[in-house]
Amino acid sequence: MAVLVTGIAELTTNDAELGKLRDAALVVDGDRVAWVGAAADAPDADERVDVDGRAVLPGWVDSHTHLVFAGDRTAEFGARMSGQPYAAGGIAVTVDATRAATDEQLTAGLRKHVDEAISQGTTYIETKTGYGLTVADELRSAILAGRYADEVTFLGAHLVPPGTDADEYVDLVCGPMLEAVAPHVTWADVFCETGAFDEDQSRAVLTAAGKKGLGLRVHGNQLGPGPGVRLAVEMDAASVDHCTYLTPADVAALADSNTVATLLPACDLSTRQPLPEVRALLDAGVTVALASNCNPGSSYTSSMAFCVTTAVLQMRMTVEEAVRAATLGGAQALRRDDIGVLRPGSRADIHVLNAPSTTHLAYRPGVPLTWAVWRAGVRQR
Ligand code: NIG
Repeated sequence: MAVLVTGIAELTTNDAELGKLRDAALVVDGDRVAWVGAAADAPDADERVDVDGRAVLPGWVDSHTHLVFAGDRTAEFGARMSGQPYAAGGIAVTVDATRAATDEQLTAGLRKHVDEAISQGTTYIETKTGYGLTVADELRSAILAGRYADEVTFLGAHLVPPGTDADEYVDLVCGPMLEAVAPHVTWADVFCETGAFDEDQSRAVLTAAGKKGLGLRVHGNQLGPGPGVRLAVEMDAASVDHCTYLTPADVAALADSNTVATLLPACDLSTRQPLPEVRALLDAGVTVALASNCNPGSSYTSSMAFCVTTAVLQMRMTVEEAVRAATLGGAQALRRDDIGVLRPGSRADIHVLNAPSTTHLAYRPGVPLTWAVWRAGVRQR
């Protein structure tokens, strides 16, 4: 059944030829966009939805979340707001709670957070394992994640479990854990950071995952300068995420690579880190993505709009740059060319704002502006 969406005051397509259209319309047929153009030229369809002067853009592509978890870290957050520093070790608290949870409890949490994201305009979501850290618990996380997320990343290398020898744990991740989890995931990731995995350990994990045919991602340069970006580029990772502390050499390496710099501004605010120097990345020609990093420790928000607003108001991105990074940038970080864009043939992932332009995302900070959402052609709200 074809649906004509018309009355669009401003249509952000992210397509190089179509650009941004005014007084526009588009047609959804099944799970795809069938037609995009001026409202005056719109073809007939089975059904018509008039959005009455609102802005339409591709749904948010949230390329970095950690949604398979149990437990609560409100007290840790409160302590941070009173001056305690964030450290990688907090992950262990969630690992204990996640291992103790039933499948039903983990599923309920996963569903709740995915639904929460969709209701705010997210139409494509990646999520990671990484709070299991045994073969059985990582496998369970991957299987449950695959039921609700669009893409699943294996993050067995999130933390060396307390009381475990680091090199023995890396061997476990690269061997039996990877063997068990690989059939259920598309990506592998490593937290390359002080307190987590060093450069050699991270390279070992990425090399083993690459040999298994998984795409690669890196958590890097979150808590200080480090080898994460350099390693991600060396391994042709699809993205290096965080990028809070970058040297000029890191920026140059990214500019000369296929690796997307995924920025997580809600995490930087929540951990009281500085916000990334995005202008240096953009000026160098690096592809930038914005993602929520929704997780119970460092960034407990599923709001991509909050990330966009922060990127504009506090990181000085233009609205166009931030919206693009949260849609097309996320798609590029997942190496997908059919999402994050609205053109004939793309997935019908459509976000209608209760506002006439995307500028309102920053002009009206904190106001919930999602008015309607189609995910793969199915209306969600
Ligand atoms: O992306 N950096 C590593 N992993 C998460 C933190 C998870 C946690 O603190 O529980 C992140 O910020």
